[in-house]
Amino acid sequence: MPIWGPVFHQIEWDVDRGNVRLENLVKYLESIQSINSTQEERVNPPSGAQLYRQHCAACHGNDLKGNGPAPYPFKDLPPDLTTLAKRHGGQFPDDYVSDVLRNGVVMAAHGPPEMPTWGTDFRVVDRLDETQVTLRITSLKDYIKSLQAK
Ligand code: HEC
Repeated sequence: MPIWGPVFHQIEWDVDRGNVRLENLVKYLESIQSINSTQEERVNPPSGAQLYRQHCAACHGNDLKGNGPAPYPFKDLPPDLTTLAKRHGGQFPDDYVSDVLRNGVVMAAHGPPEMPTWGTDFRVVDRLDETQVTLRITSLKDYIKSLQAK
């Protein structure tokens, strides 16, 4: 990889214009970064199943029953996500699951929760906007809902 600063400064008679070239390149590279993740997601949003496999299966298991391959250093057993409806009086708790995904788990007497706060992760790490975060959360919730134990 050549060092483009001096090269541009040789091509351009004036130092400022060489700097403008560098700045333009940096701006261009920045612009394609964020456009790629958000635009790609807008055109082709991942399904709940895809999101689950990518973000959740390591802890909650491929079958949602809480036996994923990530035991250490995690000490709490991830709960069985197929029994959410059973454990909430036979009704799948849509609002509860959306809230846990967006805001994390609140556990008063425990240490810090091990379940990540996905609302923040999706927004900050994956640079998604609010509509896309909500769509991901809804897809994940509906995926879990579709796999409840009878
Ligand atoms: C690092 C391991 C880990 C990952 C990754 C993870 N979870 Fe969790 N999850 C937990 C643990 C552990 C709990 C239990 C609360 C606690 O200890 O934080 C939990 C709790 C939950 C609950 C509440 C269940 C109940 O019975 O009340 C839901 C819903 C949930 N997770 C869904 C998900 C979804 C969907 C994903 C992927 C987007 C995910 N989790 C990713 C570890 C994880």
